[in-house]
Amino acid sequence: MSEIESLKQESRIFEPPADFVSNATISGMDTYRAMCSAAANDYEGFWAALARKNLSWHRPFTKTLDESEAPFYKWFEDGELNVSYNCLDRNLQNGNADKTAIIFEADDGKVTKLTYQELYERVCKFANGLKSLGIKKSDRVVIYMPMSIEGVVAMQACARIGATHSVVFGGFSAKSLQERIIDAGAVAVLTADQQVRGGKHLPLKAIVDEALALGGCEAVKHVVVYKRTGDAVKLTAGRDLWLHELVEKQAAACEPEWVSAEHPLFILYTSGSTGTPKGVQHSSGGYLLWAALTMKWVFDIKPADVFWCTADIGWVTGHTYIAYGPLAVGATQIVFEGIPTYPNAGRFWETIQKHKTSVFYTAPTAIRSLIKAADATPEVHPSKYDLSSLRLLGTVGEPINPEAWMWYYKNIGREKCPIVDTFWQTETGGHMISPLPGATPMVPGSCTLPLPGIMTAIVDEAGHDLPDGQGGILVVKRPWPAMIRTIWGDPERFKKSYFPEEFGGKLYLAGDGAIRNEKTGYFTITGRIDDVLNVSGHRMGTMEIESALVANPIVAEAAVVGKPDDTTGESICAFVVLKRSRPTGDEARQIAKELRDWVAKEIGPIAKPKEIRFGDNLPKTRSGKIMRRLLRVLAKNEEISQDISTLENPAILEQLKQAL
Ligand code: WTA
Repeated sequence: MSEIESLKQESRIFEPPADFVSNATISGMDTYRAMCSAAANDYEGFWAALARKNLSWHRPFTKTLDESEAPFYKWFEDGELNVSYNCLDRNLQNGNADKTAIIFEADDGKVTKLTYQELYERVCKFANGLKSLGIKKSDRVVIYMPMSIEGVVAMQACARIGATHSVVFGGFSAKSLQERIIDAGAVAVLTADQQVRGGKHLPLKAIVDEALALGGCEAVKHVVVYKRTGDAVKLTAGRDLWLHELVEKQAAACEPEWVSAEHPLFILYTSGSTGTPKGVQHSSGGYLLWAALTMKWVFDIKPADVFWCTADIGWVTGHTYIAYGPLAVGATQIVFEGIPTYPNAGRFWETIQKHKTSVFYTAPTAIRSLIKAADATPEVHPSKYDLSSLRLLGTVGEPINPEAWMWYYKNIGREKCPIVDTFWQTETGGHMISPLPGATPMVPGSCTLPLPGIMTAIVDEAGHDLPDGQGGILVVKRPWPAMIRTIWGDPERFKKSYFPEEFGGKLYLAGDGAIRNEKTGYFTITGRIDDVLNVSGHRMGTMEIESALVANPIVAEAAVVGKPDDTTGESICAFVVLKRSRPTGDEARQIAKELRDWVAKEIGPIAKPKEIRFGDNLPKTRSGKIMRRLLRVLAKNEEISQDISTLENPAILEQLKQAL
């Protein structure tokens, strides 16, 4: 039985615990349904009321949704606000000045705490520092920083002055960084000397230097360096400066730059099925509204909570649920520098115990690897830790298999914490389909129901609604405030990728397949329907990896497919044809290693193929099209049962069967 088949038959249902329900922000399914009806009856009125109630506006908006240039939707456009004002100043006015905003847990376990007042001052000084360099509203600033208080401060400082940030994950290579700097047209790069992960010091500033030296980044006038480790780095006079020197003389207050709700808060690059990564552009007002609302609805955040999202600020999860959402609702949150397995695989549980974490949000891939570790090393089994502070758990980034869900529920939540399996994407800005912890009965492996106001549906290739129980294409039928606004610099690609003509240009295409249960109406995500891979919750395009491989002078052709993996969800398998004859044995292993390192240099270590197979050719149709579906079967080491009558060179399959 396939994974999907078994999910369809998943019949275990877990009701939200009664004491959770009685205190929940959204309590009971009747409330959920009432909210959904309110949205259905008066869509704009529903969102307008929420936006007025949950955000502070410098100038109130008069029009909620502008569809005149669909699919370039605009929300609250004539309203003015500042995101950093909403995250900081508002907390000082609400009596949260002395409340802990951030508990920073360093790689080595050292703790630094910051109140909202202190965070406000840090952000203002950083913002004034950026202004002193001439950085102003609408300038783009690339942030290549580690998980740190400074990373969050940098993002908030950009928001304060109306500069649009683009955070690049610290695991991307110099070349990937350079491409993003150029595409965004950045005028400054904010970085650190190094990052510390798992006891190791890893370079950041040196990679920025390398990226800038690759050329094309002439618009970058400043590189600001946060001193994390103090190990030697080179500073280029006139361009580079230390963050501590930049901020030391700055005033601790900075008037926020009021911007339109549609002003681009950030650009975040993500992979698509074709071409180079897309710069997903997000708004200020609609985005922040949803970041705040989902903190309240999905994470049920209360004043006493200690929230911990383990994502990196380099990904969208770290934007919405570290840099913006928790601050917008005045929460206390943990910012974690390290990795789940250092100094041992009990680190997450130890940290939950240490800081009395109450709401914990992580990725299925981390859970699966910690299950293995707990089985192998009883000392780090979660039963060894006091996890009684937890009241709610969440997952994100990839489907969670029911066994991992059950383990999480029993061993971490001790059967008293609801689990919110949150489906969303870089493009959606925040959660889309998720249980509401005080309302929705949970089914392991299902992200359950769309949030109020989110009009998800499942359609066929022609865009027609499909009946429940029949798998199809996941779409969203109405625009929502936190949605992607465009692809930076490429509006045509935005339309083609997300609102294709085949669907009448009106449906948002998520790129995922989904199926809805006939009895419950619950959604289960069946995975990407395009050439996007999900490896440990990191999103990658097969095309990008193929392009990286063929950029190597010894490679003639390459095809990349995903292969199911117990821990990482999917792993990368590359089929490669060299310009020379097909290598075998030790030589093949040596070349495979060189190619893996090559990909790490071209894109970043996260894109390294786990497996490389060499052939004299790739399986192709008579018209020369690579038959990827056959490669997917070969990667799984399964026998080919499909029709191969259109295959020009069947003999090649035998060769490609052989793993190294
Ligand atoms: C996948 C991460 C199943 C999905 C926030 C989506 C999920 C892609 C889930 C977006 C989930 C995310 N269940 N699949 N709960 N959450 N995905 O842009 O394939 O990095 O399209 O955003 O991750 O990845 P992205």
